Amino acid sequence: MSELFRIVNGALRLDIDKVRNYTAFLAEKLEKDGDTSSADRLRKMLEESDHQLRPAGAAFAKALPVDADSRFPLIERVNLKTMAEPPVVLAQDQWDTVNEFLSIAKSYAQADVQGATSLSLLMYGPPGTGKSRLARYVAKELGLELYVARLDGLISSFLGSTSKNIRALFDFAAATPCVLFLDEFDAIAKLRGDSQELGELKRVVNSFIQNLDTLGSQSIVLAATNHQELLDSAIWRRFGYRLALDFPGAELRRTMWENFAKELHFSLRDTELLVDLSEGFSGSDINEVCVRLQRRRITKQQVPLLKDAWEVLRNMSIGEGESRRFLSALKGKDEHEISTVLRERNKKLYSHAAIAHLFGVSKATAHRRAREGKS
Ligand SMILES: Nc1ncnc2c1ncn2[C@@H]1O[C@H](COP(=O)(O)OP(=O)(O)OP(=O)(O)O)[C@@H](O)[C@H]1O
Ligand SMILES: [Mg+2]
Repeated sequence: MSELFRIVNGALRLDIDKVRNYTAFLAEKLEKDGDTSSADRLRKMLEESDHQLRPAGAAFAKALPVDADSRFPLIERVNLKTMAEPPVVLAQDQWDTVNEFLSIAKSYAQADVQGATSLSLLMYGPPGTGKSRLARYVAKELGLELYVARLDGLISSFLGSTSKNIRALFDFAAATPCVLFLDEFDAIAKLRGDSQELGELKRVVNSFIQNLDTLGSQSIVLAATNHQELLDSAIWRRFGYRLALDFPGAELRRTMWENFAKELHFSLRDTELLVDLSEGFSGSDINEVCVRLQRRRITKQQVPLLKDAWEVLRNMSIGEGESRRFLSALKGKDEHEISTVLRERNKKLYSHAAIAHLFGVSKATAHRRAREGKS
């Protein structure tokens, strides 16, 4: 019943948005718990007051904060309902952090802990490692709406407006039961290089810190960055939880190949080869291969699955560093050359049988080709 406290709190402070938003949230909760008549009654009250407060006909919609100059919305609501996604794949120690964060968020929501500071999680790591995916997961787990603010958009050419924007963002989060996701969070730090006025930048950073500190326990703040090294240590320390995401190791890649393409049914051996061939890939890369492969399977049922996957992998030019060089070096090579490279890489894994499988030919054919290649 923490919503009740927030509604009263909003009423006492004459914060009509907070009252309305939390009343709508309470109605949703009541409905979920089966008390539809109370839910309906609350919604009716909202509707009736809406007619008094707003022009007739205006549908009840949460007013999104806008940029002080351009009037563009500073945030966007993510529609979580239409999204069916494969599960999040993390290492155990990463799950420990996420689960602890979630259980504290849930206990705050139940008890409406007074005076507690806001709950915040900073996710950092290279592109495509699951930061945005995790933000959606957290919001879903908590049953909250997800609002994304891209910080680069919020940083105005007029620094004075930037502080105003930050204020508007946090006012919105304080009045709305939601997860506020600050994406491209390093934009706030990049300011340093761009602006001539260091004093002005300090003000922006301070305004951010103050807003975060005074937000209160009802709001959940997530932030994501690819450039953690750019973040001010004062900001860094402000986040109660921090989570490093990175390119998945072999164990996680295996789980991804198994989970991202459930309908494809890779055999154990297929999976082992794919795990090795996708070394250095991000979760996003593996997902992309799976999505593309799933689409191709519709028209390519007669092509063996692993052969098809290998084709997609080789032609996508994805992955980072070493693995990318490894795969792109194989482009344009014939099967004999490729099998030589693969066998040099790992003789045990790339047995003649495995390589035959990869090329979608019989073992005898592979042997014959290998012999022909040598001669
Ligand atoms: N650890 C993971 N678990 C599950 N899915 C993942 C994971 N990492 C990546 N993905 C998949 O890759 C897609 C893209 O990842 P996501 O958008 O979360 O990356 P990001 O870290 O936010 O990247 P960027 O820094 O570029 O914003 C996700 O929608 C998801 O399908
Ligand atoms: Mg992202």
